[in-house]
Amino acid sequence: MMLTSIAELRSFAQAERSLGKRIGLVPTMGALHDGHLSLVKLANEQCNTSIVSIFVNPTQFCPNEDFLRYPRTLENDLQLLESVGSPIVFVPNAMEMYPAGFKTSVHVSGVSVPFEGTIRPGHFDGVATVVLKLFLASQADAAFFGQKDYQQLCVIQKMVADLNVPIKIVMGSTIREPDGLAMSSRNRYLSESERQQGVVLSQSLAEAERIIIAEDMRSAETIRQIIRDKILSTGEVTIDYIAIADPFTLTELTAIETEAVILLAIRLGSNRLIDNVLIRNKDRITN
Ligand code: PAJ
Repeated sequence: MMLTSIAELRSFAQAERSLGKRIGLVPTMGALHDGHLSLVKLANEQCNTSIVSIFVNPTQFCPNEDFLRYPRTLENDLQLLESVGSPIVFVPNAMEMYPAGFKTSVHVSGVSVPFEGTIRPGHFDGVATVVLKLFLASQADAAFFGQKDYQQLCVIQKMVADLNVPIKIVMGSTIREPDGLAMSSRNRYLSESERQQGVVLSQSLAEAERIIIAEDMRSAETIRQIIRDKILSTGEVTIDYIAIADPFTLTELTAIETEAVILLAIRLGSNRLIDNVLIRNKDRITN
């Protein structure tokens, strides 16, 4: 079933809740791939009713970004969703989400400031605003987000905690192409050679993880240097950031003691690629 208005979504959700159903929400911008579908499968496992929203949210695109050419593949998306049990699909238009005179923006400080927040000013305000609207309209009990966009997940988790939004945030693991490239709706923009170069992200994260676990390397600077060298050895690439940070606060670490997240962002031509790995090596590294 496809719904297009917030009023329809609210009354649908209300009816489901009154039957005691647990609602799971998977917010997306469409151009669906196996990463999105894995989140829908998680929602199906953990909830009675799954809702997938498809909305290319204009407020999270910076002025120089690809809002107009962002892939819109609704027919194909609906077919893919049939293969994972035909969840309820919410497809609002921009006027429905942002009617004339809309003036509110949700800003989460702290976790939204570094990394993507610095490179894409205002991006996370747009994300937080639309996601909160979707949470309220869907009245979901749980919402599912990918580790692929790790900082986004931190921003949403912080918003939910600070505003006491009664929803459980669930993280799904990053789904990858066979060679390791994290799936992304934007991968279709890559030329063949950029596509091949993109593998360096997951490869350098795997190498960093190996050095941390197997060689007990703790120095963030050394790990960053190893990643930098590996990325730059692949040719024409610009590194936006290589960050080694606390997985909850996203403050940068000088040494990895127990847990960390390594976040990478590079540019290949006009394309940006991001990836990350969570390091949980409590067993191997002791203070
Ligand atoms: P979008 O890029 O369409 O991603 C929707 C969800 O799919 C996000 O939670 C994202 O982390 C997850 N995802 C993307 N690629 C993935 C992969 N390879 N493996 C696992 N999960 C993956 O993220 C957004 O849309 C928007 O910012 C949104 C939250 C919908 C707000 O507009």
